[in-house]
Amino acid sequence: MQADLIQRDLASLIHPLNDPKAHRTGHVWVRGEGAFLFDADGKQYIDGLAGLWNVALGHGRRELAEAARQQMETLAYASGYTGHSNERAIELAEKLARLTYPSINRFFFTSGGAEANESAIKLARSYWKLRGQPAKTKVISRELGYHGTTLAAMSATGIAGYWPLFEPRVPGFLHVSSPYPYRAQTTDGPTYGVAIANELEKAIVREGPETVAMFLAEPVIGVGGVIVPPDDYFPRIREICDRYDVLFAADEVITGFGRTGRWFALEHWGVEPDIVQFAKAVTSGYFPLGGIGISDAIARVLDEAQVPWMHAYTYSAHPTGCAVALRTLQVIEEENLVAEAARKGARLIEALRACLGQHPHVGEIRGKGFMCAVEFVKDRETKQPFPPEDPVVTRIHDEAQARGLISRTRGDVFVLAPPFVTPDNLVDRIAEILGAATDAVLGRRV
Ligand SMILES: Cc1ncc(COP(=O)(O)O)c(C=O)c1O
Repeated sequence: MQADLIQRDLASLIHPLNDPKAHRTGHVWVRGEGAFLFDADGKQYIDGLAGLWNVALGHGRRELAEAARQQMETLAYASGYTGHSNERAIELAEKLARLTYPSINRFFFTSGGAEANESAIKLARSYWKLRGQPAKTKVISRELGYHGTTLAAMSATGIAGYWPLFEPRVPGFLHVSSPYPYRAQTTDGPTYGVAIANELEKAIVREGPETVAMFLAEPVIGVGGVIVPPDDYFPRIREICDRYDVLFAADEVITGFGRTGRWFALEHWGVEPDIVQFAKAVTSGYFPLGGIGISDAIARVLDEAQVPWMHAYTYSAHPTGCAVALRTLQVIEEENLVAEAARKGARLIEALRACLGQHPHVGEIRGKGFMCAVEFVKDRETKQPFPPEDPVVTRIHDEAQARGLISRTRGDVFVLAPPFVTPDNLVDRIAEILGAATDAVLGRRV
């Protein structure tokens, strides 16, 4: 039955990251319940990545369906363009003002994460123009960062595999290194974190601060392989941005709403951004919604502008999306899921260490909150990766899937971000499955 559906699918759909060869062995999902997904053949899988890092509350939540139903019956859609608003959008913005960083109190809504980053980039450029500095347009982001695949978001994305078919990239986008503690090399600074942050300063000075609009970074890199920065990295980034008048935009599309064990991830380091981009868990994936929050200082400039801000989406402030988001945030609060994400993440790391910590091809097990990764290596001593022509971790991924675990990889890194509601026994089971899949591909651990 699933095989037939896949045939029809291949004849009629183009997929995100379209790859018909890989798709032939794919799944057609028909049902979800808690941390489980069920495919068209009736087989059950643990959703180890909560959909695409978004289904924080797990599948099959009736209260979210009910929130959507009620709103759709009352006012499914209305324009959010200037001159029009709706109650749910106002309530959601007020709620986000309480949940996000203290200086972030105004919000613009989009349909997802890439649109949130586009909006942040266009906002930064418009902010400097309105402040009489029209040359401040450049965007500095980081290697291994992922910000979406629309043209500007793709140009900010620092994973080169997303570029070749779509170049030329948007001019004026540059990349600096991300801190990658496991693969740390540079010693050009008092600490590794400060040394890597100082690359931003060097880039700003080289380009000329009068040309740089913003720095864009995920607090914890997600798609790029769950990379957690050293504690002194973001405080130094904030100093550099302040010193050179560069806006700091935090892409919290994955990290927002509890994934790292705090409502927003820069809280771990006592840093506030000027702009925060969010999406995914804001509706737990039950409705496409994202957005940006902006600092009071930026909001003042927009309020005083003499020209309209000509940036807009039909689905900005979608009433149904906002209703689902409000209910999602209520559940996160009522079920104490931010603390649960922290606790379950610690449990997952412990379970992964028990199942895989001694394996000679496991280089590092890492994470922050309930986003975790296992980085595999050819040689544990030298940290040498597997050669690209030998896709070992793809085979581990396939073995894990055959044993009932769905997730994704980036190169030799296997990433995990299950729903916050995943029961403890399933958290342990995820580690056991990954351990068994690793043994099946690489031989038994010592
Ligand atoms: C950090 C980050 N930013 C932006 C995006 C893009 O979001 P979307 O796919 O909703 O456009 C993603 C998607 O995975 C992401 O992880």
